[in-house]
Amino acid sequence: MTISTEDLPAFAGGKPAKTTPFAKEKRYGDAELQQLKEALDQGTLFYAQGKKVKTLEEQFAKHHGAKHAIACTSGTAAIHSAMMAVGISPGDEVIVPPITDMGSIVPVLFQGAIPVFADLDPKSYVMTAQTIEKCITPKTRAVLAVHLWGNACDLGAIKKLCDDRKLTLLEDCAQAFGCKYDGKCVGNFGAVGCYSYNEFKHISTGDGGMTITNDDDLAKKLRLATDKCYDRSPNAKMRQATFLAANYRMTELQGAVGIAQLAKLDSIVERRQKWCAKLTEQITGLPGITLPKVTDKCDPSWWFYMVRVEPEVLGATADEFVQAMHKEGVPMGAHYIGEPIYAYPLFQHHSAFDHAEHPFNARVYKKADCPEAEKILQTCCMLSINEAYTDDDLEGTVRAFNKVVNYLHQKRGLKG
Ligand SMILES: Cc1ncc(COP(=O)(O)O)c(C=O)c1O
Repeated sequence: MTISTEDLPAFAGGKPAKTTPFAKEKRYGDAELQQLKEALDQGTLFYAQGKKVKTLEEQFAKHHGAKHAIACTSGTAAIHSAMMAVGISPGDEVIVPPITDMGSIVPVLFQGAIPVFADLDPKSYVMTAQTIEKCITPKTRAVLAVHLWGNACDLGAIKKLCDDRKLTLLEDCAQAFGCKYDGKCVGNFGAVGCYSYNEFKHISTGDGGMTITNDDDLAKKLRLATDKCYDRSPNAKMRQATFLAANYRMTELQGAVGIAQLAKLDSIVERRQKWCAKLTEQITGLPGITLPKVTDKCDPSWWFYMVRVEPEVLGATADEFVQAMHKEGVPMGAHYIGEPIYAYPLFQHHSAFDHAEHPFNARVYKKADCPEAEKILQTCCMLSINEAYTDDDLEGTVRAFNKVVNYLHQKRGLKG
């Protein structure tokens, strides 16, 4: 095997490709402080009395090209409000993906509805119209399209399928701030789009959420769903609750930080897009590494960058590859969420409630329900992305990929 000392990976005795830390953006600063001061100076932190949440909602709707935006306490709360607003009820089936955050699934269960897991595309890691269609039964009421890693599902085909089969389409955009499909922000294609402002997303209020909709009636219901079904509009009988709702009200403090963060969104997304485009260009074609496939018509916003290894070509498993990259100074994680969501004890033991039946108890969640999703999790390796990443970070990452992959691949060839 002929590898120069310079190209020798660190795990085989060479020098690491990257010896300086990756750049990281300071998330919160003077703009947030100024907004927070203004919020406190109002003398109220209640959304219905202050101006910050209202302003954030107006700016968020405008920014996303939507008619309405309704703030709430988390991405999970946003999805739950959407489920309440469109009337998901006990026994309904809702089609969801098996690789996502529990925040996509919990709202389905809280409505007494039954999550049905649709398999994923092996390269774009999102549900497709074909995998969704296979899950439709007479009980199916809605589809929750999760735009994983900042890449849109194929919204054209999925929307058509939902319209044809009279299903409600909801969008989980928690990982997809700034992601566009066919030139429009995701979240505008289904009845409701749901965003998360949690600490780890493109922009953050610590915790927080937002729904968008272009339907006036749904907008009213979304507001009620987040506020105990209290109707605070003029002349309404406020306490005459008409459906089961929660208290998911955003405070003025979150609203204030949300305004300052929203102003940074375009720059954050643009920088991530540029860095990831260069990374893709420079590591395309490495043997045994499959790069993420962007959905047609989508401008992704790169919440993270996930590749898959082909162990038989690369000569290493995802764990071995990730360990080698760590030694190069490029931290990556293998297997993302570990197991598909339906393999969690909650689904295997139907343990939603302490001592009563939930409608999903009637469904058996088999460990191999979604074979592609299982293969993705076995072979995926995730690189965290930050908008502050520099050319030096790029150069180190590319060099690490090249060194590790070429060495492993050659070694594997020698073994035959
Ligand atoms: C795809 C997806 N959906 C929903 C959520 C839930 O958001 P939150 O943590 O704000 O409740 C997350 C959060 O990680 C997510 O990544």
